[in-house]
Amino acid sequence: MDNVTHRYSAAVARPVLDRVSLAIRASEVVSLVGESGCGKTTLGKLIAGLERPSSGRVRFGGRDIWSLRGKEAKAWRLSVQLVHQDPYASLNPGLTIGSTLGAGLVHNKLARHHDLQEHLVALMRQVGLDATPEFLRRYPHQLSGGQRQRVAIARAISVRPQLVVADEVTSMLDVSLRVSILDLLRSFSEERGVASLFISHDLGVVRYFSQGGRILIMFYGVVVEEGPTEEVIAHPRHPYTYLLLEAVPVPNPGLARQRAAARASEVLEGEPSGTGCVYSNRCPFAEAKCRDSRPEAVEVGVGHWVACYFPERVPAVGSVPPVGEGSGGPLDVRSHEGGAKLVGGSTGDVRAGGIASVDG
Ligand SMILES: Nc1ncnc2c1ncn2[C@@H]1O[C@H](COP(=O)(O)OP(=O)(O)OP(=O)(O)O)[C@@H](O)[C@H]1O
Ligand SMILES: [Mg+2]
Repeated sequence: MDNVTHRYSAAVARPVLDRVSLAIRASEVVSLVGESGCGKTTLGKLIAGLERPSSGRVRFGGRDIWSLRGKEAKAWRLSVQLVHQDPYASLNPGLTIGSTLGAGLVHNKLARHHDLQEHLVALMRQVGLDATPEFLRRYPHQLSGGQRQRVAIARAISVRPQLVVADEVTSMLDVSLRVSILDLLRSFSEERGVASLFISHDLGVVRYFSQGGRILIMFYGVVVEEGPTEEVIAHPRHPYTYLLLEAVPVPNPGLARQRAAARASEVLEGEPSGTGCVYSNRCPFAEAKCRDSRPEAVEVGVGHWVACYFPERVPAVGSVPPVGEGSGGPLDVRSHEGGAKLVGGSTGDVRAGGIASVDG
């Protein structure tokens, strides 16, 4: 997608997506992460053609998807498949698993009635389900959550897509089932060259899924950082990415408390800036410039982009000292800005993005 802006209603000042560009190559594994409401599902829907962008273009194979007609439109519909968070809602409760999967295969001429059973059994095997006629006769309510999600994935891949958009597909599953679903999705990329866009608010899940791939960090409709997964996680260059990474559970109770307090203050100070950097109202490093104009993405490493004026100010992950011992720490803004002072030393005064807040 090129420079896509999206609004659900013209009456709302802030667009849900603001000038987002993203390219996904064949068999690439891309993850999109950001907090609830930042626009992840909206982006997925735009890519899958379920919403039309207010401005900008969504292309597939170089063509604007909204200009496709007839056969081309039909081919594109199959090429991009969306898998949802809630497999129960996305499966027809009145249809057996066999009918659910068979309908798509027959309708799209990927199977004929006489060899349908064979195709269905093969499909079941691919997603790790019981490849038996009895299983195919079951209804969605007779399956576990994990099995239903596998059926939803089977339906998506049955039409041989080139891209699967997986939106929070593991969030309703038990932790014990998550890894197997993630492995299943990954195997399609690795073995069949299916590209995937994996959407989640959970950086831990994303980190696992997109090993060796690319990750996009979104904040209020803006992609603030993008790059190879390992690189972004080891060396975040946007203050928001840093905050997300620091929020991942840690064994040190002192550090954990401090991070929890930082997150609590995040919620309170949530409103994004109107004109400048979307993160400037929460950012501990923000200056006047950040509030005045939005930073363009700059390349800070190979394929590693960040939309921040001061990426060098983001400290190394895991280096934040416990609250109260703040002086000289990497998030102590005094070391970056003369005249700025650390506000408060207790967890009660913890401000956006870390342990310090700039005053003046
Ligand atoms: N159909 C709609 N009509 C109007 N506003 C919408 C619609 N869908 C989403 N929104 C709004 O757009 C914003 C982004 O929503 P979206 O569902 O894309 O976020 P998300 O990142 O997927 O969140 P979550 O992690 O909770 O799934 C939210 O403020 C939401 O309220
Ligand atoms: Mg969503």
